[in-house]
Amino acid sequence: MKPPTDRELMLEAQRARLSAYAPYSHFFVGAALLAASGKVYLGCNIENAAYGPTNCAERTAFFKAVSEGEREFLAIAITGGREGESPAFCAPCGVCRQVMAEFCKGDFRVILGNAEDIKPYTLSRLLPVTFDKETL
Ligand code: THU
Repeated sequence: MKPPTDRELMLEAQRARLSAYAPYSHFFVGAALLAASGKVYLGCNIENAAYGPTNCAERTAFFKAVSEGEREFLAIAITGGREGESPAFCAPCGVCRQVMAEFCKGDFRVILGNAEDIKPYTLSRLLPVTFDKETL
């Protein structure tokens, strides 16, 4: 099957964002992670009354995929914005960049923005100097 275009992956991220559970920040984030297998894993942020256990959309997508046996990834689309507003540019937090670095090389594609305005990055641009498995 043909891999999704950046715009198609972003549309999936926008769909994932609709499931966000964010009653504290009211900031809704969605992610769509493309595995090398061709499967797409969706993720949303999941908040918690204790705040600390909150999980970002990107990590939700990664952990779903890794828990189903995936280890190689090609791209992730991410979009965010306040509840009730249109999805917009939302850069991944540092913790999520570190999780990406665990499973992905520098050429892993990180697609930001929204379906109308796609801004493509690479992991090496977002996290140029890594602490990863090669370091240990
Ligand atoms: N959030 C994400 O889901 N991904 C990011 O990369 C940035 C932050 C979520 C966490 C929290 O639920 C809300 O956005 C506000 O920080």
